[in-house]
Amino acid sequence: MKKIGIIGAGHVGLVTGACFAKLGNKVICADNDERKIKNLKNFIMPFYEPGLEKIVKEEVQNKNLFFTTSLKEVVEKAEIIFIAVGTPSTPDGRADLSYVEQVTIEIAKSISAIKTKIKKQKSKIYRLIVEKSTVPVLTGEWVRKTLELLTPTGVEFDIAANPEFLREGTAVNDFLKPDRIIVGIENKRAEKFFREIYSPIKAPIIFTDIRSAELIKHASNSFLALKISYINAISQICEKIGGNITKIAEGMGYDKRIGREFLNAGIGYGGSCFPKDVSAFIHLAEEIGISFNLLKEVQKINNQQRLLVIKKARELLWNLKNKEIGILGLSFKPETDDIRESPAIEIIKLLKEEGAIIKCYDPKAIQNTKKIFPDISYCENSYKVAENANLLVFLTEWKEFKTLNFRKIKYLMKTPYIIDGRNFLDYEKIQKIGFIYRGIGINPVREK
Ligand code: UGA
Repeated sequence: MKKIGIIGAGHVGLVTGACFAKLGNKVICADNDERKIKNLKNFIMPFYEPGLEKIVKEEVQNKNLFFTTSLKEVVEKAEIIFIAVGTPSTPDGRADLSYVEQVTIEIAKSISAIKTKIKKQKSKIYRLIVEKSTVPVLTGEWVRKTLELLTPTGVEFDIAANPEFLREGTAVNDFLKPDRIIVGIENKRAEKFFREIYSPIKAPIIFTDIRSAELIKHASNSFLALKISYINAISQICEKIGGNITKIAEGMGYDKRIGREFLNAGIGYGGSCFPKDVSAFIHLAEEIGISFNLLKEVQKINNQQRLLVIKKARELLWNLKNKEIGILGLSFKPETDDIRESPAIEIIKLLKEEGAIIKCYDPKAIQNTKKIFPDISYCENSYKVAENANLLVFLTEWKEFKTLNFRKIKYLMKTPYIIDGRNFLDYEKIQKIGFIYRGIGINPVREK
């Protein structure tokens, strides 16, 4: 059992903290957002993540998980401190590390205050400071330099990089059953801590130097984005000359060297990670004199994919002005209420610009979307969206959409047009019912 501190109760921090508590550690989790901490103490989650609320409740009750607004308290109580604050993009696409810097300075100040308090000059204080947020390579070195500069003698610390590979929507499972654990360290002392805290998890642990660990995160996320853009580029070929992209992905995926995962063509990747991380990697490469054109193309293809929806809507409806378009799915992927960089947001914006009347529904993301588009209609279910609609556009592959009664939907709609931005609907069934269906890179037998 270790005393673990987490700074930042966002997606990464909160899941990490809750799961380490579930593994039997004492975890104290800090965030400077007072409301968030107050809510967490009352078991109100700041975002939707399957399974998280249950663990938070249990571990708070078991007295394994604590919340605070005081970073100082974390530094006082925990020996291992994970930095899990946000690293948003600057307007030109670099990673903004000001929160990481601010937190590092605060950690240094708090360690210094503890040292002053105990006053016994000979007693040593040790802290292991771990980067958990996605940060560009060399951040570890900046954290080290900052701490060295601001902490008094008698304070010992190690720096480590332990990038997370959690996906929103399956984050708890990804933490408890990861494919691998990556830890960048400087010495055996830090390695020992990681071996202990990860001992209940059955997964290979790869120990590296800090720079390699930071680069593994960059390289992994960018590779996954590249895989998505690759299949989307092939889907664009299918759009022109036919072929079924889902079958193509299946055929490719059976080759173990390729693998089927992350080969789902559609309206492109969104979320708080891939768009930001690809952009940060391109900038980082540029700063050291390397033009990462491959990743620039990944971005370009991703941006084109969402425009396909507008093109297809025009092909089906001719003019979009005053046409009622129903949007099903707003979050950047299923099982989350997160709409950051969600393709749906840009698609709605473009449809609005063309004068379309938008109605929408999402099982979890309506509240967040209302903040961006207060002026469109939000419905309580998919059938309400279908009423009188000229076109239904599916933008997130929520499970509940797959089992909709499409006969009823057809009856409710003005004209039976469907665009499936995620290629997840059973188009043969839908076509039989009488819909005119358009997927992305799928060319079902065209209607006469
Ligand atoms: C991603 C990575 O998958 C995690 O390993 C990583 O820890 C995380 O970023 C992070 O850096 O924090 P996440 O953004 O939660 O996780 O979501 P993904 O499941 O990777 O999906 C990202 C986007 O790609 C979604 O918009 C999804 O719809 C899209 N996608 C995914 C496709 O368009 N096609 C696919 O085949 C797979």
